[in-house]
Amino acid sequence: MTEKSYGGNNGVREHLGKTIKGKLSKTNKIRSKSNSVTTPTVSSDSNSETDDYIKAGKIAIKVRDYAKEIIKKDMLLLDIAKKIEDKIYELGGVPAFPVNLSIDDVAAHYHPTLEDQTKATGLLKVDLGIHINGCIADTAFSMDLTEDKRYSGLIKASEEALTNALELLLSKPNSALNNIGEEIQKTIEKKGFSPIINLSGHGLSDYKIHSGITIPNYANGNLHTLEPGAYAIEPFATTGEGKVFDGPSSNIYAIVNVKTPRGPTARKILELVGEKYKTLPFSLREMQEKLGNMARLGLRELEQLGIAHNFPQLIEKSHKPVSQAEHTIIKTKDGKIIITTRWN
Ligand code: CO
Repeated sequence: MTEKSYGGNNGVREHLGKTIKGKLSKTNKIRSKSNSVTTPTVSSDSNSETDDYIKAGKIAIKVRDYAKEIIKKDMLLLDIAKKIEDKIYELGGVPAFPVNLSIDDVAAHYHPTLEDQTKATGLLKVDLGIHINGCIADTAFSMDLTEDKRYSGLIKASEEALTNALELLLSKPNSALNNIGEEIQKTIEKKGFSPIINLSGHGLSDYKIHSGITIPNYANGNLHTLEPGAYAIEPFATTGEGKVFDGPSSNIYAIVNVKTPRGPTARKILELVGEKYKTLPFSLREMQEKLGNMARLGLRELEQLGIAHNFPQLIEKSHKPVSQAEHTIIKTKDGKIIITTRWN
């Protein structure tokens, strides 16, 4: 799931509070030490958190393969979303955010509602996330559902940009953010397309899909290197201008503030989400399944009170098609890069 930069402060979001005060931030600290898998590659940095990132990544790889297999042209996005979600649970994970199913010029952040009749067509981006105890694996791919496969070049551009950025980091883990962005930009432009410059990869932390650090999709002059931690790298390529604007609601929300709402449904939503997702994004659809028709009203109340943030769809400015590819990496304390959502 991507991050859009708003305004001039280089990708730090202005509309989402970075720290959430109150109950949620306390519950964030709760971390289970059980269910760890041991992986020899991180023995020098072995702790339950690293293990949980790797465990989430392994599930993500399987879910992505499954999604590629089942998605066919004209399937309802709703059916795709449910199947992917079921698979995540079946494999022992929890969705880190509602699967993004974004078509053509919608670059990111679309999730069907319960009554949604939208079908899979054109250039479909599937962006999915899994968390284990708040440790997130975030991965995305694009599918060309046209008869004449007209988007294969555009899809390759974002895939190759991702591969090249990852290769750069594997060989030089202390590459500057600028150089990672430059690698992505060069790869996409060489193929005759544009990267989307106001969408970026992002740091991942405990129950946070956007930790505050952004990984640019162009040479942005930022000479900082990555600190140890988890990051998602996600190039977007387009035949259009290379910028997105905020569109209508994505039907995806996140709790950004803790206050007590008056309405019983709003309270119920807060309770459900606080328990299961904490500060991670969740869907209107899941609330509709659990609470029926009242879910929309409850969410509207939470939004109006500034408790929930409603993510907008991110739409390409010139309404041209967009492709996306994404993997999650961790940088260990001893400076090694591990790609968690790819078999290395
Ligand atoms: Co992401």
